[in-house]
Amino acid sequence: MQRLKLGNTVRNFLVDGAIFAGFLLATDPHATGQTIHEWLGLAFGAGIITHLLLHWKWIVNVVRRFFSKLPGQVRINALLNSLLFIAMTLIIFSGIMISKVVLSTFGLSGSHDAIWRWLHTSATNVTLIIVGLHMALHWKWIVSTIKRYTWQPLRKTSVIPSRTAARNLDQAQTIPHYVRNDTTVSVRNQGGMR
Ligand code: HEM
Ligand code: HEM
Repeated sequence: MQRLKLGNTVRNFLVDGAIFAGFLLATDPHATGQTIHEWLGLAFGAGIITHLLLHWKWIVNVVRRFFSKLPGQVRINALLNSLLFIAMTLIIFSGIMISKVVLSTFGLSGSHDAIWRWLHTSATNVTLIIVGLHMALHWKWIVSTIKRYTWQPLRKTSVIPSRTAARNLDQAQTIPHYVRNDTTVSVRNQGGMR
């Protein structure tokens, strides 16, 4: 059986989509119920760790060069990402502190101190804004990836290819990917760090 091989862009796109959906769902505990809310919140934490590991090279590069040469746009991304990291950590930590379901699974009980609940709600509100900005800064990548992997393939399959077009396509596939015109690479390179 042939193994499914995902390119970096598709893999990032799937993880980004999953954490985005998970985050939106977690902001409304009444819609999911308490049990799903808590486990989903923890799964979301694991999703964020995956997201960070997939961008580990970027993080190491930026940390190394933060106080020397770095394009302004990358510096802004780095500052916003740091805020996002702090805010997400606060949400999950305060969530665990007031947990009713997850802690009781381990025979523990959560705190009734109002400060943790306040922290949980406030950090969520702040994070909603930062996630919006984070998405806005990567908007070009999001739109070009959606077009490339959903819209363009759909348009291609709706046209019946001629024999010549099929032959040309066959030949194009024998050209190595680094020679082909790769729109995602050119858009991602605008950030200058990947
Ligand atoms: C709901 C949560 C989040 C969503 C939907 C999201 C989405 C995205 C998207 C669309 C990109 C650009 C495409 C890519 O390369 O994957 C990206 C890049 C990145 N994200 Fe997130 N992200 C989220 C949370 C976070 C958090 C909490 C951090 C923590 C530091 C973070 C750090 C990064 C980094 C380091 C990059 C690559 C560097 C950059 O260009 O900023 N993200 N994210
Ligand atoms: C991305 C992650 C999360 C987000 C965005 C989030 C968001 C929220 C929001 C908006 C509320 C409603 C607050 C209110 O009504 O005042 C809430 C309540 C709560 N959350 Fe989370 N949460 C997350 C993760 C977690 C985790 C990981 C846990 C525990 C393991 C948790 C436990 C709780 C608890 C116990 C409540 C209080 C429910 C109640 O008393 O009605 N949350 N959360």
